[in-house]
Amino acid sequence: MSDVHPPPADFAARAQIRDTSLHEEALADREAFWARQARSLDWATPFERTVEGDLTDARWFVGGELNAAYNCLDRHVEAGLGDRVAYHWEGENDDRRSITYAQLLDEVQRVAATLRDLGVRRGDRVAIYLPMVPELPVSMLACARLGAAHSVVFGGFSATSLRDRIEDAGCRVLITADGGFRRGGVVPLKDNADEALAGDTPVEHVLVVRRTGAEVRMQDGRDRWYHEAVPAEPVAIPAVPVDSEQLLFLLYTSGTTAKPKGVMHTTGGYLTHVAATTRWTFDLRPDTDVFWCAADIGWVTGHSYIVYGPLANAATSVLFEGTPDHPGRDRFWEVVERYGVTILYTAPTAIRSFMKWGREHVDAHDVSSLRLLGTVGEPINPAAWVWYRDVVGGGRCPVVDTWWQTETGGQMLTPLPGVHAAKPGCAMQPLPGFGVEVVDEHGQPLPGPGDGYLTIRQPWPGMLRGVWGDPQRFRDTYFSRFPGRYFAGDGARIDEDGDIWILGRVDDVMNVAGHRISTAEVESALVSHEAVAEAAVVGRSDETSGQAIAAFVTLRGEHDDGADLEQTLRTHVGKVLGPIAKPKTILFTPDLPKTRSGKIMRRLLRDIAEGRDLGDTTTLANAEMMTELSERAAAAR
Ligand code: WTA
Repeated sequence: MSDVHPPPADFAARAQIRDTSLHEEALADREAFWARQARSLDWATPFERTVEGDLTDARWFVGGELNAAYNCLDRHVEAGLGDRVAYHWEGENDDRRSITYAQLLDEVQRVAATLRDLGVRRGDRVAIYLPMVPELPVSMLACARLGAAHSVVFGGFSATSLRDRIEDAGCRVLITADGGFRRGGVVPLKDNADEALAGDTPVEHVLVVRRTGAEVRMQDGRDRWYHEAVPAEPVAIPAVPVDSEQLLFLLYTSGTTAKPKGVMHTTGGYLTHVAATTRWTFDLRPDTDVFWCAADIGWVTGHSYIVYGPLANAATSVLFEGTPDHPGRDRFWEVVERYGVTILYTAPTAIRSFMKWGREHVDAHDVSSLRLLGTVGEPINPAAWVWYRDVVGGGRCPVVDTWWQTETGGQMLTPLPGVHAAKPGCAMQPLPGFGVEVVDEHGQPLPGPGDGYLTIRQPWPGMLRGVWGDPQRFRDTYFSRFPGRYFAGDGARIDEDGDIWILGRVDDVMNVAGHRISTAEVESALVSHEAVAEAAVVGRSDETSGQAIAAFVTLRGEHDDGADLEQTLRTHVGKVLGPIAKPKTILFTPDLPKTRSGKIMRRLLRDIAEGRDLGDTTTLANAEMMTELSERAAAAR
């Protein structure tokens, strides 16, 4: 029997959702249910049909036209909420600024005017490579206002990653900054951008936000300072109504190959999904809550729960540039206290770090404003869950463990905070209107408790509409393993109460500190170094980051495996992919374990990396070497 935590009584008594009537409404008539949710948005042209097509070809709110920026800004200002704070921006180095809905609308229009002057039109793609500054959501919304799609590239990604994403999407404009602050240091975003644009590039114009004041090279005819290009005076740029299925954004995510996928999200369905789930999961009260999703906008969590979900609901959010341990380990709690944060949404990795650093950092601040806590991005271990609830939440806040993906657009599974008795580590139940099912290896729903695969059997509003430029990969990746179902790539368990536990990825995708990285990407980065003949990469469990990257490398004949080389290769991977993809350990080995047909035995490498007993290895040609490797792996851990 697992540990069960009913909603705290005070919370439950005041929760906006206290029963499962929404689930019942959705079960009784799914289309009518989603149509009702969609109508909480403002449509320039009402939709004629709720949904058409099957999973591989779904279209939501057919015939409807709307604008995402209008729904996030104008309609709130028109309703008299112009003075409400949209973002409390908490930057590094004591920079802070509160921005109202009216101010945000004004800045978005001025940037939209600039983008329009640069030739950005409906359907174009604009790349955004910025730190967590207000100009980031402003740029996204300025694109949306014109009906153009944004492709935000996480500021921690390398020049090569930026280049690949820009080329794949054919972005005509790039918005970046002279640099970004990180833990007091500076990330050279503009230098990276210059490298990414060298040679042939689809980018014609670059807007550069001044953030750090670092000296940067400005290329004549291509680069302009944001503060010079964007008009200082208000301009009226109408929000263009677009078809419900107009591309809102691309967001690249790792798959099982070395090439990231450009996940496509469209306007009406996505906005309906994230707006509704922001209300349900967080029991959101836009007039009193201060919501803090502590993710980076470079990942889907930030797109959906810093930008579109909260803004569509006229909520007040914290926009945080920093890191949890700079300048001190109490940084989060200082921010919670300063703004009176009521809802905090963060990743298990961060919670495990807080736990390691000790409760005194939390206790040093008044965090009694908190009323609800959420987690996302990776499985949370029960000890971290309980610590979060007790130490951060003082026992009075429900904890929602939300499962979803870049591809799902918004949350799919979570306990409802005023309804479900939560179990630490369990994502519990589908939110209303989502056909999530755990199936066996033949695609049959599990009849009772057991382990299987997480699938979704009906189209849902926020689902990805495709992989940019690669319809075949879209079908193969998500719909081929279980015909008639979307396969998420995660294993899942159903317990005796019918609740769903996420067991983690069953494909070659790692989850490091809540970030998806494919083993193939890291392998390909490693073998691009001249010293490397062959590389195999696996994820292994890590106390803080959930998983850590373990690499096994064989070298070309003339190279030797000194400590320098390990460091060189880590740096090399950081340069090719970005610092988050650096392997934690690299073991050099004259040979990799292979089957007779020459396939690398990843399962065996995972066992080695995890320190598990290798069992019978006598069928391997190089059994002795595997034993030795496993001893060295143990020493390296
Ligand atoms: C994992 C992040 C366990 C999962 C929003 C999924 C989780 C991948 C949870 C998506 C959770 C996300 N419990 N695992 N609550 N939430 N995951 O696309 O493996 O960056 O497939 O989206 O993270 O990662 P992505």
